[in-house]
Amino acid sequence: MDILTVDTRPIDGQKPGTSGLRKKTPVFMERHYLENFIQSIWDGIGGVDGKTLVLGGDGRYFNDRAAQVVLRMAAASGAAKVIVGRDALLSTPAASNLIRQRQADGGIILSASHNPGGPEEDFGVKFNTANGGPAPESVTSKIFEATKSCVRYFILESQDIDLSAPGETRLHETVVEVVDPVEEYRAMMERIFDFGAIRALFESGFTMRFDAMHAVTGPYAKAIFEDALGAAAGSVVNADPKPDFGGGHPDPNPIWAKALMDEMHGPDAPDFGAASDGDGDRNMIVGRNCYVTPSDSVAVLAANATLIPAYKNGLKGVARSMPTSRALDRVALRTDLTCYETPTGWKYFGNLLDDGRVTICGEESAGTGSDHVREKDGLWAVLFWLNILAETRKSVAETMRDHWFEYGRNYYSRHDYEGVDSAAAEGLMNDLRAKLPELRNSDAGGLMIEKADEFSYHDPVDGSTAEGQGIRLTLAEQGRIVFRLSGTGTSGATLRVYLERAETDPERLDLAPEEALAPVIAAAEAVAGIKDRTGRDAPDVTT
Ligand code: G6P
Ligand code: ZN
Repeated sequence: MDILTVDTRPIDGQKPGTSGLRKKTPVFMERHYLENFIQSIWDGIGGVDGKTLVLGGDGRYFNDRAAQVVLRMAAASGAAKVIVGRDALLSTPAASNLIRQRQADGGIILSASHNPGGPEEDFGVKFNTANGGPAPESVTSKIFEATKSCVRYFILESQDIDLSAPGETRLHETVVEVVDPVEEYRAMMERIFDFGAIRALFESGFTMRFDAMHAVTGPYAKAIFEDALGAAAGSVVNADPKPDFGGGHPDPNPIWAKALMDEMHGPDAPDFGAASDGDGDRNMIVGRNCYVTPSDSVAVLAANATLIPAYKNGLKGVARSMPTSRALDRVALRTDLTCYETPTGWKYFGNLLDDGRVTICGEESAGTGSDHVREKDGLWAVLFWLNILAETRKSVAETMRDHWFEYGRNYYSRHDYEGVDSAAAEGLMNDLRAKLPELRNSDAGGLMIEKADEFSYHDPVDGSTAEGQGIRLTLAEQGRIVFRLSGTGTSGATLRVYLERAETDPERLDLAPEEALAPVIAAAEAVAGIKDRTGRDAPDVTT
């Protein structure tokens, strides 16, 4: 087998975003596009000679072929070993776990997460470092620098390697170990949770629906919920990973997981519902007639953590991304824990987890996780809920009611304006930024703005600073509005408006969120003129 040196030219725009490099699939399939980026990863991290890597993806269109390219390029650059999930499948948390368990030097995850997949949809490549987490800014900036001077790449000339069954083969000098994608992950979940207690819950007649959304968690969910825990056959639906996710958005929120939402609000609703995204790191939790916001979910997990075997001795601390509601802060305050506030992006939790400062983290964007891996973990969150319910034997709705009664409720919603003209979106943000001084202590649609600033984060572990992480307006009555542009889109700009208001009056804990948030929504419109600027009457997605 020959190692080819292929001449190429730097390709513009290969800058990793919130979570790796995401582009339309046809862009990734353009000549040299994927190869340039993979070579730039190798160059950005100082080469892969003698290193061990983990490789897998969410099964979307082009996953299989891209994996073969990565293998040939890892072999051409002298990697000692690549551990790859069978059929090149691995959920993101399972990949994170493998990197850690096998003490690999890093991993490549082929995924555009919750974005649709298919020949005309999205593809993505993420690089995770040896701690199992998404590469931090210091690494992604080196990779991006390398893309700018990429004039050659190395690739082995060889046939595709068979990834259909576990076992070891060699590609040139590199050992390729194909592993069952589920096995080590399931074993880890068994170490964290009380499987016996959850099994007893199902034995008592408890019912659940898990919607895998035709994405990577299907095989994991079947093995864990149905085979290991005894949930009724058929509890897991849409369980076969498909290259186009059955034509849907594999994003577990009330809009894209509507079928599950309808079932959970219908006459034959099971006791518990959940869903996960394309690559298995996001989750949605829903009870009978009771949708749990991701911000509330992480607060409930933190409040009940000592019911879980792995966290029975308490938490070291907790963390949430800045736009996530402050429900978690209420739990932290009561339980005397530090609650860190980080920019959007799981990578910002990495240092806090590595340094032993926090145990549980969460984001409003349906991400929840802990120090068991360095990614958010959808099935872990579902098992956490099941373990809590197995111990308390309450319904999801009762759990929420009791939680709000004890800690207060942070009404919360996110309004997304998708595919907005980039200049219009930038203009809105720039004008808000310029207006910050005059907004302080002013009135917005009837609510006083007590604080107005742009969030910047100082990492207490490595001393780095991340600036420009969202515009925050803190309002009277514990209200808050955050404006941010998404860092994960692939076309135009997505404006995200995060709306929050806290309530502690026990008589007012059951309002519809839109009703409780009406004054905050009005304030956001008054301050930013969203309708005018985006040309939209209403958000495209409301979570
Ligand atoms: C990905 C990241 C998350 C982030 C989310 C939303 O899922 O892993 O950490 O919260 O995207 O990011 P965005 O920039 O689109 O708001
Ligand atoms: Zn994801």
